[in-house]
Amino acid sequence: RYSPLIDPFQREITYLRVSVTDRCDLRCVYCMAEDMTFLPRKSLLTHEELDRLCSAFIARGVKKLRLTGGEPLVRRDLMTLIRSLSRHLNTGALEELTLTTNGTQLARFAGELADAGVKRINVSLDTLDAVRFRAITRRGDLGQVLDGMAAARAAGIKIKINTVALKDANEDEIEDMIAWAHGQGMDMTLIETMPLGDIDGDRTDQYLPLSLVKARLSRRFSMTDLADRTGGPARYVRIAETGGRLGFITPLTHNFCESCNRVRVTCTGTLFMCLGQEDAADLRAPLRASESDEALHAAIEAAIARKPKGHDFIIDRRGQRPAVGRHMSVTGG
Ligand code: GTP
Ligand code: 5AD
Ligand code: SF4
Repeated sequence: RYSPLIDPFQREITYLRVSVTDRCDLRCVYCMAEDMTFLPRKSLLTHEELDRLCSAFIARGVKKLRLTGGEPLVRRDLMTLIRSLSRHLNTGALEELTLTTNGTQLARFAGELADAGVKRINVSLDTLDAVRFRAITRRGDLGQVLDGMAAARAAGIKIKINTVALKDANEDEIEDMIAWAHGQGMDMTLIETMPLGDIDGDRTDQYLPLSLVKARLSRRFSMTDLADRTGGPARYVRIAETGGRLGFITPLTHNFCESCNRVRVTCTGTLFMCLGQEDAADLRAPLRASESDEALHAAIEAAIARKPKGHDFIIDRRGQRPAVGRHMSVTGG
């Protein structure tokens, strides 16, 4: 009944990322300040409203839904939302329902996630050293995350590791992490820090260009470029020595926006057409205005019609404010 969502650059929107909460139980140094102010709980959409919103996008051709945060598993009614959304997997309207998580709560939820049809998740992990893990996340316990990952894999969920490459903090460990991840059959993606929201300190001090990382890796590994782009920002290589796949997300040294297939919704119903731009559309008002979805669909269409061509991140100027004021935890990566 509804037409697909095509933006002004003829890109079809088939991937929705939903930040179900801006809260997190960790405080990663490149992501947040130690002292963060989170949204008041009463401004959040209910799980019923989030479901309606996601379902509207699925009716418009969204095939892949990723729940993010903040940390999605700290939201209390998350499993209710996921169990409800999984009906779209059963009808075939949705191809993938997935999650990006820091892994701290996985030991508890892995079984329920698998039962709800979650087959693959991305786990954010920047180090395998417990002392460093505490330093980077400011409050995390590495053992808890490793236990959570083991539980997910025991439940039959595939894991991809996301690692933010950080100057000094983990740069000497990246090779070993790749060998570890691939040794357990997990793909891994390296990410450059992006200038989103204020942190304590300057991101210039943390920024490690992946072009440099890749050059270093090529001394130990033979890497072959893979053609498949999976519609996402990562460019993948196959590493001969490990047999595994390694992705590079390099917003600052590369532009991958031409093939962008995604938009983002926050837990307050704000639609962001690009991770790296401020322009947004409010979907909460049309959602709450009526029980019919007409106004909601009109608002979605109007927003997609102004999806920008891409971001314009830069990170090489010390002391300058981040390109975008909101944190990754608000938009959900
Ligand atoms: P796959 O489904 O495994 O391809 O996941 P993904 O890479 O789309 O999602 P994930 O949540 O694992 O994100 C990994 C990193 O990519 C995060 O740091 C995201 O912020 C970043 N990322 C995802 N999409 C975009 C994008 O459109 N632009 C930019 N600049 N970064 C993105
Ligand atoms: N730049 C790059 N990656 C970030 N993440 C959080 N904040 C930033 C940032 N400013 C990462 C997390 C997680 C993913 C969803 O986003 O580590 O892997
Ligand atoms: Fe939480 Fe992820 Fe941000 Fe770390 S990077 S503070 S785990 S949202």
